[in-house]
Amino acid sequence: MGSQKKIHLAVLASGSGTNLQSIIDQCQQGFLDAEIAIVISNNPDAGALRRAEQAGINNICVNHREFDSREEFDLAVVSALQEAGTELVVLAGFMRIVSEVFLQAFPQRIINIHPALLPAFPGLHVQRKAIEYGAKFSGCTVHLVDGGVDTGPIIAQAVVPIFAADSEDTLSARILGQEHKIYPQVIQWFAEERVVIKNRQVQIKHSKNVESATINPPVSTAE
Ligand code: GRF
Repeated sequence: MGSQKKIHLAVLASGSGTNLQSIIDQCQQGFLDAEIAIVISNNPDAGALRRAEQAGINNICVNHREFDSREEFDLAVVSALQEAGTELVVLAGFMRIVSEVFLQAFPQRIINIHPALLPAFPGLHVQRKAIEYGAKFSGCTVHLVDGGVDTGPIIAQAVVPIFAADSEDTLSARILGQEHKIYPQVIQWFAEERVVIKNRQVQIKHSKNVESATINPPVSTAE
């Protein structure tokens, strides 16, 4: 955070918008060198639109049901993004696959958050899938968006344990808590122009390495 100019974000969300809220809150508290230029939803009932409205942020619904093809829908979204002066597109629970016209309009400038540790568990209902698989950890991943589903280069991840008593809801809540921390942080790294992308490897300039390991269930044996 500093005196630099603010990066103009567009946040695209289809659902309740808790990630949007964490970004709004951190912008308002001055923790992010960012401002939300526009919030777009494809779902007229999205809580995200109400959150934007309440915060006084420019928001529109572009309803995908009113378009004949994915490309036509994306062109309408892209034109709204460009009109708002968008520099970074932040997908936060946006339940639409992004087509080539969208990708080409914002090359390496579209990011997404996914509630699992990619490349494990791409797609939908991934908290349930991680529990059913018997994984001992899951988490969340912020990644660049490419032409695939949850396949773009990874920028940051947070890890949480999975406990025997977990339900889809308890694990989702634990993961969401971390989403609300890492997504604003990644946005700040973009604002500070610290994100370096080389093929699939994404590095954050000047970040330190912290070596630690987490084991679940914990070990009780002496070292
Ligand atoms: C989050 O779990 C996110 O990882 C996924 O969709 C959910 C959106 O939640 N892509 P919210 O609308 O931000 O509360």
